[in-house]
Amino acid sequence: MKKWLLNWRLFSLFSVMALLLAGCGKPFLSTLQPAGEVADMQYSLMLLSTAIMVLVIIVVTIIFVYVVVRFRQRKGEEKKIPKQVEGSHTLEIVWTVIPIILLIILAVPTVSATFKLADVKPMNKEKRDKHTVVVNVRANLYWWEFEYPDYGIITSQELVVPTNERVYFNLKASDVKHSFWIPAVGGKMDTNTDNKNQFWLEFDQKATDKAGGIFYGKCAELCGPSHALMDFKVKPLPRADFDQWVEKMKNAKPVVTDSVAKEGEAIFNKSCIGCHAVSPVDKRPEQARTAPNLANFGDRTRIAGILDHNEENLKKWLKDPNSVKPGNKMAGTYGNLTDDQINALTKYLMSLKVE
Ligand code: CUA
Repeated sequence: MKKWLLNWRLFSLFSVMALLLAGCGKPFLSTLQPAGEVADMQYSLMLLSTAIMVLVIIVVTIIFVYVVVRFRQRKGEEKKIPKQVEGSHTLEIVWTVIPIILLIILAVPTVSATFKLADVKPMNKEKRDKHTVVVNVRANLYWWEFEYPDYGIITSQELVVPTNERVYFNLKASDVKHSFWIPAVGGKMDTNTDNKNQFWLEFDQKATDKAGGIFYGKCAELCGPSHALMDFKVKPLPRADFDQWVEKMKNAKPVVTDSVAKEGEAIFNKSCIGCHAVSPVDKRPEQARTAPNLANFGDRTRIAGILDHNEENLKKWLKDPNSVKPGNKMAGTYGNLTDDQINALTKYLMSLKVE
């Protein structure tokens, strides 16, 4: 192939890729569109280190080009050896001091931010401020549980938090190591089985509005065949709305009126209830809470964390969970359901709402 043609093709490929990648910056998902205090701090550190790296690359490239041009072999001077420089004190000092200065410029804000981000004192106070929101996050293959210990309520898959204030997290896992990450808001931090990690995040109201009211959360540690599908959603609310949501959750009770939904409730209470609770006030110990709490299932925006929230997808999930999330623990725990049973369960689950 002609060389210019190959170059042209490579050039087109890179142009198309650049265009495509430029589309990755979605406000609900992108670390490049920070949506809170933590994300802002981490974004500034990224900018600072990138700026320093670019500066170093530019300076080194200029020196390199200069040396190549200036000291290249010229016609008629093939035998000439230029003056050999060795052990120049000035040069040695210059190229030792400059990196030290660059490292200091990078280290001071990084260390200071690290301490700020690790400040979880308000959540660990003997008597913590009743305004401080603490969430216990428990990661499981492949779903998330969010417990609000101060309110005595539990939800799954969709985290609800107040905006414009620090929210504190206790992070742990019940089976293997996962990692809790809300790309636009900050993070990430591992959830382990043998210890509890703690950190805080702040969810900016304006950024929330821009993102359409929902941020995407991800598992950021390879944990099994459905690792890439272990998503959760985050719904930040203004403080007053958040308080209202908490009250509604505290008093939530499934009210089933529809006759088909009632059939679904009967099926649910015969088998599903062994693992899934339908009340947000779940007093069982966490080892007994082996499946997502479904109290506000009807209010969610996703089925199984990934599918659009509609009856069709719920039926698909109930019929064959493994086809949606390979290796999940729901598959095989119940026998084959008839289409009528699946219809009834779908009606029942969709009726579980607190909003
Ligand atoms: Cu859980 Cu990856």
